Amino acid sequence: MKNVKIFDTTLRDGQQSSGANLSLAEKVKIAKMLDKLNVDIIEAGFPISSKKEFESVKKISKILKNAKVCSLARHNKRDIDLCIEAMKSSKNKRLHLFIATSNLHMKYKLNLKPKEIIELVESMVKYSRNKIDDIEWSCEDGTRSDPNFIIKCFEIAAKYGARTLNIADTVGYSTPLEMDILVKKVLKNTKGIEKCNLSVHCHNDLGMGTSNTLQSIKAGANQAECTINGIGERAGNAPLEEVVMALKTRKDFFNCKTRINSKLLKESSAIVSKLTNLYISKNKPIVGENAFAHETGIHQHGVLIKRKTYEIMNPKDVGQKESKINLGSQSGLKGVKFKLDYYKLNYKNLNLKEFVKFFKSKVENLKVVDKELLIKLFNDFKVKKNEKN
Ligand code: KIV
Ligand code: ZN
Repeated sequence: MKNVKIFDTTLRDGQQSSGANLSLAEKVKIAKMLDKLNVDIIEAGFPISSKKEFESVKKISKILKNAKVCSLARHNKRDIDLCIEAMKSSKNKRLHLFIATSNLHMKYKLNLKPKEIIELVESMVKYSRNKIDDIEWSCEDGTRSDPNFIIKCFEIAAKYGARTLNIADTVGYSTPLEMDILVKKVLKNTKGIEKCNLSVHCHNDLGMGTSNTLQSIKAGANQAECTINGIGERAGNAPLEEVVMALKTRKDFFNCKTRINSKLLKESSAIVSKLTNLYISKNKPIVGENAFAHETGIHQHGVLIKRKTYEIMNPKDVGQKESKINLGSQSGLKGVKFKLDYYKLNYKNLNLKEFVKFFKSKVENLKVVDKELLIKLFNDFKVKKNEKN
């Protein structure tokens, strides 16, 4: 089975989400949790962007027990020096260098010619290599770049010492088939790639962050860049919990494994959501409130007899105690019976079918039926029965 490295960028790209600003203490708390979750690499920040970012990377570099700390830099000496300085207390560290390679970005954002980009890659990777062993080199807007130009940049980066090469789908533009073609082309044609890890960094603008990441892994990439809950610039990044659980659940198809302790996914998601103030939708895969909830009669019946009929993962594997049987107007006898047992409500002397009919008529227009309402309806039904008798 292929080992896939999980590069977590919750604290860098994730924190770039609008409205998600994290304090130093909050970043440290998340870093400790990511370390426990067992991610391979934690991108702790972008030191040049602020004093707080610098201090966060510095602090996080000191406390990690398992994960490698990583720090982001553009292609200039000041950025690189600050990263090196921030991570100096760590023995397990990586420098992440990035520069845009698409014509659009080179012309309008950087005002540089392709030749000048190549010169910068050579000089800045060389410069960094004198200061740190582990260098990741990323082509920003890689998926809208000329693939031959990316390959040229990758070759230079590898030649001067980068050991991870990362294709960034910076604006979430690519599709799974295009990622497949690009990854295979890079693997086949880049001189020096055999000494390197190949990584992908897929944004989610068209909702394809997870599929693009997974297809790239299937095509041969061995590092996935992700964030908890998929937070990140605009629509975010590939969600770590989705990528990890897809690889685990479909190992028959991907034949890959990660080091992640998936039982900590729910807890990690809750911490990141709380500290970033970015709420998780109920139907969010893996960690949403409804990810293992069943409300309709047919599904409740199936799941109560054999969980696997309607669940492809065990909720315990992501840190959720159990599946949820929620009651509503579409629930049936099995679900209602289960819930009455669950709350220890004694229905032995009642006609359960009659109660279900009564129950359904009362909740017909309700969105949520909680424990209190079920108990109330159960008691109302008993009173009604007694009145009749
Ligand atoms: O989206 C992007 O291009 C990035 C780079 C820094 C890899 O976040
Ligand atoms: Zn990004």
